[in-house]
Amino acid sequence: MLSCFSFLPSRFLNLIHNYLASNLFVFAIVCIFVRFLESFNTINIMQTIDKFNFAGKKAIVRVDFNVPLDENGKITDDTRIRGALPTLKKILADGGSLIIMSHMGKPKGKVNAKYSLSQIVDEVSNKLGVKVAFAPDCAKAADAAKALKPGEALLLENLRFYAEEEGKPVGIEKEDPAYEAAKKEMKAKQKDFAKTLASYADCYVNDAFGTAHRKHASTAVIADYFDTDNKMLGYLMEKEVQAVDNVLSNIKRPFVAIMGGSKVSSKIGIIENLLGKVDRLVLCGGMTYTFAKAHGGEIGNSIVELDKLDVALGVEELAKKNGVELVLGTDSVCCTDYDFASFSVKPGAKIEVFNSNNIPAEFEGLDAGPLSREKFAKAIEGAKTILWNGPAGCFECDEFTAGSRAIGDAIAKATAEGAFSLIGGGDSVACVNKFGLADKVSYISTGGGALLEAIEGKVLPGVAAIKGE
Ligand code: 3PG
Ligand code: MG
Repeated sequence: MLSCFSFLPSRFLNLIHNYLASNLFVFAIVCIFVRFLESFNTINIMQTIDKFNFAGKKAIVRVDFNVPLDENGKITDDTRIRGALPTLKKILADGGSLIIMSHMGKPKGKVNAKYSLSQIVDEVSNKLGVKVAFAPDCAKAADAAKALKPGEALLLENLRFYAEEEGKPVGIEKEDPAYEAAKKEMKAKQKDFAKTLASYADCYVNDAFGTAHRKHASTAVIADYFDTDNKMLGYLMEKEVQAVDNVLSNIKRPFVAIMGGSKVSSKIGIIENLLGKVDRLVLCGGMTYTFAKAHGGEIGNSIVELDKLDVALGVEELAKKNGVELVLGTDSVCCTDYDFASFSVKPGAKIEVFNSNNIPAEFEGLDAGPLSREKFAKAIEGAKTILWNGPAGCFECDEFTAGSRAIGDAIAKATAEGAFSLIGGGDSVACVNKFGLADKVSYISTGGGALLEAIEGKVLPGVAAIKGE
């Protein structure tokens, strides 16, 4: 085999020959061993998007294009679309063809024009730099997928127009004796649905970090229809998983988390978890009033979870036990008549600041007051690791942005002083973008619930499906 190099001294040739022979031998043994372990599912050699060549292949990519739209169907925050572009562009640049799939909103298995992805197809085309075709029925897109040529792209209609996507039976309550049978039937239909989606493509990429905490047809079940070499995480997924890993494995203190949002109940899991990790926890937004009420405060018309008063007190107790400084707002910007649908103050309505424990009956708290803002900013000052999820008020309306803005500004300042700041959740990301702070924070995640579950240390089904866990 080395005869063509006969001009080289034979001793030298022998040396090369022996080196290659022994290393090839070792290489072959390692390969056989790895295959052996793989066959027992002991380890799984994951495919990666970077090393995969999509030339001549059809790729079906799950993205999270669940982006906020205004009443005219215009995208108000495009973070999630921008986030998926590196993956989508790599596939097209390789000479692959692209089948893009996503959900939008919660249409619960029914076709609903309000949640149609046709509203975003032009914006996706603009960003991707190719005209993206649209398949109006995601489960009947075989011909459109087949017709795709290398470098072409197709966007499927909202996956959740089919109940099979979520795999939950609709129109039947859990308490109904027939529920279990309906669920079983739906699970079988979910597999067929996933199989149909899989049939459009040669390979599957999951780049929907925002939906990675859901075990749905397109985020998890579909992976069963591709072998290990032909399924992988996209660049965004890889980046997000890595960002969470970086925060959790290298927490620099003080670690300050800011949790907003309207309900204690939807955040209780992560709040309890964070109380085991952070030094300071700022709780703001609508949940302020459940805490105020738990202490016998007068909260007027403010949002409250009356059945969660004990949960609020439990959070305070746990914080004390763990030595975590719990920071709650003390005053609120309140309004007598706010329209949540159009994010506007109704004509003639009054806006005033009150103590959060003493809000008159006709007012509701809609933002953090000046004292609270100062308190929040002070809690964030000097932090070295920061996590922000959920706004401090109805930031969509200019009268009630100040609380979220104070938090955003304080995070930007701490970041400039060396903190690592991680922002997640559609509303907090929208705040950061609205206030022009996107390049003043360390990392903006496309995940809300997914990010929080990852931070809780839960295995995300969307990632596990690829890893074969
Ligand atoms: C989100 O915005 O939270 C994700 O797109 C997931 O959507 P879901 O919470 O409706 O499952
Ligand atoms: Mg959600």
